[in-house]
Amino acid sequence: MAGKVITVAQQKGGSGKTTIAANLAVAFVRAGKSVALLDTDPQGSLGRWFMARHGDGIADMDFSTASAWGVGYECEKLKKTCDIVILDTPPKVDADLRPSLKISDLVIVPVASSQVDVWAVESVLDLVARERKTALVVLNRFKAGTRVGTDVTAAIGDLDVALAETKLGNRVVYAETLGLGRGVQERGRGAATDEMAALLSEVEALL
Ligand SMILES: Nc1ncnc2c1ncn2[C@@H]1O[C@H](COP(=O)(O)OP(=O)(O)OP(=O)(O)O)[C@@H](O)[C@H]1O
Ligand SMILES: [Mg+2]
Repeated sequence: MAGKVITVAQQKGGSGKTTIAANLAVAFVRAGKSVALLDTDPQGSLGRWFMARHGDGIADMDFSTASAWGVGYECEKLKKTCDIVILDTPPKVDADLRPSLKISDLVIVPVASSQVDVWAVESVLDLVARERKTALVVLNRFKAGTRVGTDVTAAIGDLDVALAETKLGNRVVYAETLGLGRGVQERGRGAATDEMAALLSEVEALL
């Protein structure tokens, strides 16, 4: 088996990297895929999420950590046994990110609803382009019907990058479930569940 690797990266802290990594993992598992998580962020948030899940007796995905230089080796190993490997990365874009990008089939770049997030996006897109990889920008904490929502969408539209049709709203359920080691889809039906299903379809189409 040669699994697909998805890296979630964005220089701006708090843009939703870990939230998207965890929720995509849950979405893929629910779609019947075998999933491995690889946390390269020393903050270890995805690991905390996974341990909370594991502590509740849910053992439906794999988890490991890697430093920048170990990512390639660890990923190659995981790709042999899993359909999907999801990498969470720290909020910085430097040479350390390169090994993660190199091994990726798709790079997801979350952009929270602010111009600051848009400014931060260019450095990661440059690196992705240099590695000749595909990036998908996902608008997170999106506030439909607001000026900032329109401006951020337009600013991303001016860049040479694919923008996901699915926009993730600013919803308490994302924060609540993250702390509990769950995905929003495990809370039952609702707008966030629909958003993640739609995002999963878009991501699958790009793999
Ligand atoms: N769509 C959303 N709606 C509401 N809260 C959200 C949403 N996305 C993320 N959050 C919350 O925002 C905070 C930051 O999200 P997250 O930890 O996923 O960002 P990050 O990019 O991984 O941060 P870091 O750069 O520090 O690793 C968390 O408390 C999370 O629960
Ligand atoms: Mg994070």
